[in-house]
Amino acid sequence: MGGNVFDLSGKTALVTGASDGIGAHFARLLAKNGARVALTARRAERLHKIAGDINRQGGEAAAAVMDVCDAASVEDAVAGLWTDLGRVDVLVNNAGIAAGGMAVGVAEAEWDAVVDTNLKGAFLVAQNMARRLAAAGGGGSFVNITSILGERAAGNVAAYAASKAALAHLTRVLALEWARHGIRVNAIAPGYIGTAMNRQFFATEAGRNTIKKIPQRRIGEPRDLDGALLLLASDASSYMTGSTIVVDGGHLQSSL
Ligand SMILES: NC(=O)c1ccc[n+]([C@@H]2O[C@H](COP(=O)([O-])OP(=O)(O)OC[C@H]3O[C@@H](n4cnc5c(N)ncnc54)[C@H](OP(=O)(O)O)[C@@H]3O)[C@@H](O)[C@H]2O)c1
Repeated sequence: MGGNVFDLSGKTALVTGASDGIGAHFARLLAKNGARVALTARRAERLHKIAGDINRQGGEAAAAVMDVCDAASVEDAVAGLWTDLGRVDVLVNNAGIAAGGMAVGVAEAEWDAVVDTNLKGAFLVAQNMARRLAAAGGGGSFVNITSILGERAAGNVAAYAASKAALAHLTRVLALEWARHGIRVNAIAPGYIGTAMNRQFFATEAGRNTIKKIPQRRIGEPRDLDGALLLLASDASSYMTGSTIVVDGGHLQSSL
């Protein structure tokens, strides 16, 4: 391990939603810190491009198409990766979608898409991985990406906020159940991080007004999450499970 307590050499990490934004950044970060990385999402071409970049830069990456909403797709992808890579011991449950608009106008299909992706999807991947790790022994570390919108109420994001609050609670429940298998389950609750998901919004007046409410007066960048991810993915957090680390420039502390 040397002097670096966050070193991930010898570990293999599966990242969901690795074709874009925070997930693609996480895949690169984990590879830079010694992990073999399995990139998953629905868009194969993007996954293969990012995995190719990582491999060219001296890392070790594989890619597999996975729709987290579909248990059969999760099983196909995880089974294939376990066959190709041996064992996978770190899971970053990052795939997620957002939908805006007032609660009275939310369509049933929109509600289902958000909750299926952000909550059921994270559960399906975690359950699949936990079954394999429980059988293989040796434990693992799961990191769920929630949101500050799962911690405190805001308007126009009913399905998203509810799905992330539920994922934060699921993190605690799974930490309790899976400690017996040596699987730690923690979460990172990011504040606003500049990605495709919200870039347009922060260019609007409403977006600029939101930035004024963040004590640090800026939105985050994916790299602002690096410390929390490396802590939770690595053995540096061996005595942490069921925890949520908030990374938000102080946004949750904004004045009432
Ligand atoms: N950006 C923020 O401000 C912010 C703040 C708090 C929390 N978060 C959370 O951070 C995570 C990443 O967000 P981001 O900003 O990086 O979003 P993004 O740029 O839109 O990327 C989302 C990723 O999720 C994947 N995805 C969506 N639906 C999927 C499905 N059914 N199956 C598999 N993969 C799926 C997408 O890939 P494909 O389309 O290729 O499947 C994409 O790689 C999300 O969980 C989000 O809620 C973001």
